[in-house]
Amino acid sequence: MNTPSASPAAPSATAIYAERRARVARQLGDGGFAIIPTAPEHLRNRDSDYQFRHDSYFYYLTGFTEPNACLVIAADGKSSLFCAPKDLEREIWDGYRLGPDAAVAALGVDEAFSFAELDLRLPKMLENRSVVWYPFAIHTGFEGRVARWLNVVRARSRFGALVPEQQRDLCAILDEMRLVKDAHEQATIRRACAISARAHVLAMQRSARMLRAGEDVREYHLDAELLHAFREHGSQYTAYGSIVAAGANACVLHYRADAAPIKSGELVLIDAGCELDGYASDITRTFPAGGKFSGPQRALYELVLASQDAAVAVTRPGKRFNDPHDATVAVLAQGMLDLGLLDKNKVGGVQDVIENRSYFPFYMHRTGHWMGMDVHDCGSYVEPTELGHISERRDPLSGELILNRPSRILRPGMVTTVEPGIYVRPAEGVPEQFHNIGIRIEDDALITDDGCELMTRGVPVHPDEIEALMREGAAAPSLS
Ligand code: GLY
Ligand code: MN
Ligand code: MN
Repeated sequence: MNTPSASPAAPSATAIYAERRARVARQLGDGGFAIIPTAPEHLRNRDSDYQFRHDSYFYYLTGFTEPNACLVIAADGKSSLFCAPKDLEREIWDGYRLGPDAAVAALGVDEAFSFAELDLRLPKMLENRSVVWYPFAIHTGFEGRVARWLNVVRARSRFGALVPEQQRDLCAILDEMRLVKDAHEQATIRRACAISARAHVLAMQRSARMLRAGEDVREYHLDAELLHAFREHGSQYTAYGSIVAAGANACVLHYRADAAPIKSGELVLIDAGCELDGYASDITRTFPAGGKFSGPQRALYELVLASQDAAVAVTRPGKRFNDPHDATVAVLAQGMLDLGLLDKNKVGGVQDVIENRSYFPFYMHRTGHWMGMDVHDCGSYVEPTELGHISERRDPLSGELILNRPSRILRPGMVTTVEPGIYVRPAEGVPEQFHNIGIRIEDDALITDDGCELMTRGVPVHPDEIEALMREGAAAPSLS
């Protein structure tokens, strides 16, 4: 089935989308013409589809969530929408459709047609344009469809039609626009983060409550708690597959919520966030299943927290995207030496650990990524004003030669995660007390004028605060 309701954008939002379309139009250049399809539907099994999720670029420019739709924008600012036609019989089965007649007023486009007319009308619209823009390599097969439209135009060239001579990647324009979130986007992400933070607190409390009652707690019980809390506040989807990992499962980076038992004395790592009105949130918390950290668990946890503090301190305008990662690594490297995860007689001092990436067996991912409509959002990680500043380095572990470009300078309105971690698999020389402990702490940071706003701190990170909220009788959080 499709999305149950695909309502048009609210009137105030209509102006936001129209303004974004106008910004795109201004960047297309003379004779430019942009095509932005929504996502295709995908079969799951037999005659059942996966739940439909609109394309993020398309939604960014329309606020429209129905499948079978495509937007076109011409350089003069005219925008046309193709959408599913009204069909009362299909609507009985699949739900409400806006339809082209209502789309013009509801979405603020200049004209709208049935999606069935796309192949007929597009070649005509492409005639006498010089550049066709569309998002490259996003929807498999779309390039072929554009090629077929261009071929139809070419066949008309003997009647004097000019064929676009250039194809350009519309992601180059849209990614830059999406990287800096406007006030409407910031408010939506902030709300998604608040819903997800509350869900994490409830999941922690449920774990402790069930264990106190002597119940058989499974990872899926906490996953159910998260889903309930997400949906209860209007979130439409999870922003990605939730990770609920008990004990050693936390050392599997892309573990999914499954059925493993959650035992008192172990840690649980939850990486989960809801999607609200097209925008993601992305939170990881690691907590003691029964509500009390052991000594070794707390020692590693406090190290990861200190590394996150160091990263947050450099998540501010003027710093670069890589700075929080470098700050994290410096703290983790020193901590690994101090706690005996790394033997200084073998790996040397902290600078050696950093330069040789000796920390890698325990910390093998980056400290952040852009977040927005997509949990791993679009936007270049390289500073566009410094593309030519290339340096070379050889990776100490793989030996691979890497070309470095200066990383992106952070600006107000960008949103990045800050998510250091440490993952200790049993290995010779690694103190046994740390074996099978996996810890990650992840928050979502909005760059502000003078620092950053951690939008996800509705769920605490300090170990004392986590223990307090998991105690018997601790209040369940509410959301206004
Ligand atoms: N949950 C995906 C990530 O943290 O990147
Ligand atoms: Mn993340
Ligand atoms: Mn995450």
